[in-house]
Amino acid sequence: MRLTIGVDIGGTKIAAGVVDPQGRLLRRNTYPTPDGDPVALADSVARAVDELGWDRPEDEIVAIGVGVAGFVDEARSTVVVAPNLGLRDDPLKERVQQRVDLPVVIENDANAAAWAEARFGAGRGSDHVICVTLGTGVGGGVIVNGEVYRGRHGVAAEIGHYRVVPYGRRCGCGNRGCWEQYASGRALVAEARDLATTNPTRAERLLKLADNDPGAIQGREITQAATEGDEGALACFRAVGEWVGMGLADLAAILDPECFVIGGGVSDAGDVLLEPARHAFHENVTGRAVRRLAQVRVAELGSQAGIVGAADLSCR
Ligand code: BGC
Ligand code: NA
Ligand code: ZN
Repeated sequence: MRLTIGVDIGGTKIAAGVVDPQGRLLRRNTYPTPDGDPVALADSVARAVDELGWDRPEDEIVAIGVGVAGFVDEARSTVVVAPNLGLRDDPLKERVQQRVDLPVVIENDANAAAWAEARFGAGRGSDHVICVTLGTGVGGGVIVNGEVYRGRHGVAAEIGHYRVVPYGRRCGCGNRGCWEQYASGRALVAEARDLATTNPTRAERLLKLADNDPGAIQGREITQAATEGDEGALACFRAVGEWVGMGLADLAAILDPECFVIGGGVSDAGDVLLEPARHAFHENVTGRAVRRLAQVRVAELGSQAGIVGAADLSCR
């Protein structure tokens, strides 16, 4: 069988996997992301690939797709800037290519996830899909007429960095008020820590899960508390969900997709996030009384999406 390898470079871990033509992940392994050092990063990618150790004689691995959380140029080889990874003008393709024997393609992580969801996941059957990944940052992938929309220079769909608040919170990209400062996993954590500091009674459950240290509250604790029905945690998801929904309304005004697919770690909470997001979307989208509304769906491929999409795109 013709197989591909996908690698997903995120803020905390590098995940690599072997993927078949139907988008199934056959084997996978993960490594921690080394801090800010591009050479160590390429080393880890190569090691993750190597240690997949797929050597069945009946299979041929044809290419490696590497998804990275940053702006990727139109040649799909250079990371122009990665706001949350500390990379700038980094020749990632060349670095990885020197360390492996197969052809390498670099891809934006959210474009990869969007492709996987549109082909094999929640956006299956639709040619107009916008995928929004809510993790450390906010990623975007826009599928138009069944293709990944890349813009002139490769960096279209950087939806995490469109300005939702003039003069708002500072962002890793250098601007202020970017959507990802309000709608990401990091924003959710900031919301919960803020609640725990200013209103410990309301954050009792959250604090209990984090050994009474507001600074130790992470996404996992917030999702757990919210799933148990805890009011404080639910309020945090409502706040972030509203920002998500308002952003979707603006995206729909520009791109009119058939559906939005919401992925990334924050979406693991499911309806706890999606309900307030849908509500804010419906309340804010232009022409709401008369237009046909895009559906807002939760991603189906979870943490596999980035690997599967990068792999599948590597040989197209
Ligand atoms: C980056 C994107 C990336 C997203 C999700 C953003 O901060 O600019 O390139 O897709 O985070 O990882
Ligand atoms: Na993107
Ligand atoms: Zn930004």
